[in-house]
Formats: sequence, C-alpha cells, structure tokens
Amino acid sequence: MDTFQIPVIAIDGPSASGKGTVAQSVADKLGFHYLDSGALYRLVALKVMQSGTDTGSLDQLSAMAKNLDIAFINGQIYLDGTAVTDLIRTEHCGILASQLAAHLPIRTALTERQRAFRRLPGLVTDGRDMGSVIFPDAVLKIFLTASAEVRAQRRHNQLKEKGIDANIAVLLQDIQQRDERDSKRSIAPLQRGADARLLDTTSLTVSQAQDAVLSWYNAVNARN
Ligand code: DC
Repeated sequence: MDTFQIPVIAIDGPSASGKGTVAQSVADKLGFHYLDSGALYRLVALKVMQSGTDTGSLDQLSAMAKNLDIAFINGQIYLDGTAVTDLIRTEHCGILASQLAAHLPIRTALTERQRAFRRLPGLVTDGRDMGSVIFPDAVLKIFLTASAEVRAQRRHNQLKEKGIDANIAVLLQDIQQRDERDSKRSIAPLQRGADARLLDTTSLTVSQAQDAVLSWYNAVNARN
C-alpha cells in the first residue's frame, strides 16, 4: 500500500488550544498513531539550550535538527536516551521552539521525520502546518482554536496540575505573542486553510470536541 493511502487526520491550531489533548483522544479511540509535531520543535529548542548551539547559524541548527536522537515510547518523549516529557513543556522551551520554527532549513530538516509517522492503520497529528504542508492530502483537516483567554486558563490549569505556579496575565501575553509570531511568519504560517473545518472549543469539553472530530471523520469515510 502506498503511504498516501493511509488516512491522516490533521489538527492545526494555536498554542494551548487543547488540540494535543483532542488529537490524542481521537487517535486512542480510532487505534491510530499520534504525532505531536510541536514536540519535535520543542526538542530542537531543548537541544539548543542543552548544547549551547549558536542560534545564529542556520546550518548548524538544521544539521542538529536532522540528526536529533529522539524517541516517543508509551507517552514518554526521549532526547539522547533521557526522558524529557515535562522538560519540553516549559514556556521558555515553547517560546524558543516558536522562534526556531520560523526558519525554513529547520522546518525542512523535520519534514521527513514527521511524514515517517504515517503508518497503518492511520495517523492523527497536531501542529501548525500539518494540513497545509506536511500532509496536504489528509482526509480530514481541522483548525482547532479557542479564545486566547480560555487558552491561558487551560495552560494555567495544566501547569497547576504539574505543581508549577504561573501568572495568568503573563501566560495570556505569551500566548498572544506566540500567536502573532506563528501566524505572521512567512514560511508555513499558522492559518486556517480553505479546506480545513473550524472547531472552536471555547465552550466545548474535550469529549465534545472529540465527538465533533469523530463524526466528521465518519462522514468522510461514509462518502469514500
Ligand atoms: O504546539 P506547541 O505549542 O507545542 O508548538 C511549539 C512551537 O513549535 C509553536 O509555537 C510553533 C512551532 N510549531 C510549528 O511551527 N509547526 C508545527 N507543526 C508545530 C509547532
């Protein structure tokens, strides 16, 4: 079977929209593989922080991104053999990831790695350019969003669960700055494609959002 026949559900959207939670739960429900593409950019950022790679040298950065030693095993994320699942979730790592992600050589270095996640019986993936660049032939494309205020609150709750103290006003500012950078960059900007369905989760629970994605997917399948 050619890989392009393997179904992909692409869920793109802004920071802290909850797209990862929804994508993971849809993948679990369908028994599909799951790719959190943002984690790859965060891993590049963490490696930069750990190795002190010169952020001014795109050649060095893209070579490093291409050769990153990473693994996703049972919900844990590893860099150079060490679990870094929580370490890559810090705001600092997210902000550096967003800055690095604006450079084409870094994005190109990660392209094939992302496409390699497309395996039977299917893939659910989330990010910024999953439907527009990485999997343009995805059977279902969704732009999942929520108001910036609700996203700041969700991020705050997430951090609190991990025992991390954070200030909502600062989180809101970070989210707005990240939205601005991710959507205004010239390469693979975050934007809703004409072929993507809008899922505004501002007043939806995770389970309602999951149901919406599954019913769209079932409708697509019934048509094909
Ligand atoms: O989804 P996230 O917040 O974990 O992603 C971190 C950063 O990585 C995000 O601010 C922009 C970048 N990113 C990207 O440019 N393209 C993707 N497909 C995923 C993430």
